[in-house]
Amino acid sequence: MRAAVFGRDANRFERVLHGAQIRASDGYVIDMKFFSYHRKNGEQSRENVFRHVDPILTIPLETERLILDRWQGPDWTELRPIATDVKVMRYITGGVPWTDEQIQAFVNRQVKLYSERNFCRWKLLRKPERETIGFCGVGFWRDAPDPEIGWWIARNSWGQGLATEAARIALQHAFEHAGFDRVISVAQPPNTASIRIMEKIGLTRDCEFENEGVRLVRYVTDRVTWRATNGSPQP
Ligand SMILES: CC(C)(COP(=O)(O)OP(=O)(O)OC[C@H]1O[C@@H](n2cnc3c(N)ncnc32)[C@H](O)[C@@H]1OP(=O)(O)O)[C@@H](O)C(=O)NCCC(=O)NCCS
Repeated sequence: MRAAVFGRDANRFERVLHGAQIRASDGYVIDMKFFSYHRKNGEQSRENVFRHVDPILTIPLETERLILDRWQGPDWTELRPIATDVKVMRYITGGVPWTDEQIQAFVNRQVKLYSERNFCRWKLLRKPERETIGFCGVGFWRDAPDPEIGWWIARNSWGQGLATEAARIALQHAFEHAGFDRVISVAQPPNTASIRIMEKIGLTRDCEFENEGVRLVRYVTDRVTWRATNGSPQP
């Protein structure tokens, strides 16, 4: 996969993403990603093909209290208690639980997205038990051109800063590894917890709009702003 190079080397080098997998003795697979840099023009000597390797976020991503992992097809049953909780679904479907088919379709979309593009709305596992408590990450919202970051957390884990903790590293991955220039987030205006997370990770309010009769607010940030502010809230 070829990706853009940013900064002063942008005119001279092209960045190529490589993937490798390490299989631990217990069968657990860790995905590694790294970049090599290739001169765009001119002769490619051994010295200038491998310019350097970027620091990487390996999959699964990890924070102090969470593991953000890719999904496997059968994992949909772990999402079921969350996606059928009417309080979790309040600002998603107006409180209507997802059907098993909807949950399976969601998980299958994430499996496909990860296999094709190396990102997804990550499955959130709480340490140390590795209990699935929701998801957080970038996907595509309806037909919006920009990727959208979102989060759902199981009700018994609300109010502990977990969604914010997950959102910070998911946004870092979106900009530093998935290569996005701009990320949006969408919520219903009364969903103050979700909007607060957007603000805390540095997104700013862009607009309010209506979709299928539902009022929505859109927040946005871009890579340049995110890097300049280190993902801090904007004044
Ligand atoms: C939105 C959601 C992910 C928040 O998860 P969480 O782990 O409780 O969030 P955090 O603990 O990281 O809190 C984030 C901020 O929101 C605030 N917050 C949390 N719950 C809140 C509530 N019910 N009302 C107002 N603010 C709230 C927190 O105080 C915190 O802000 P602060 O640091 O300034 O105090 C969770 O409530 C959820 O899963 N909701 C259902 C699914 C959903 O609506 N997802 C978003 C769709 S757009």
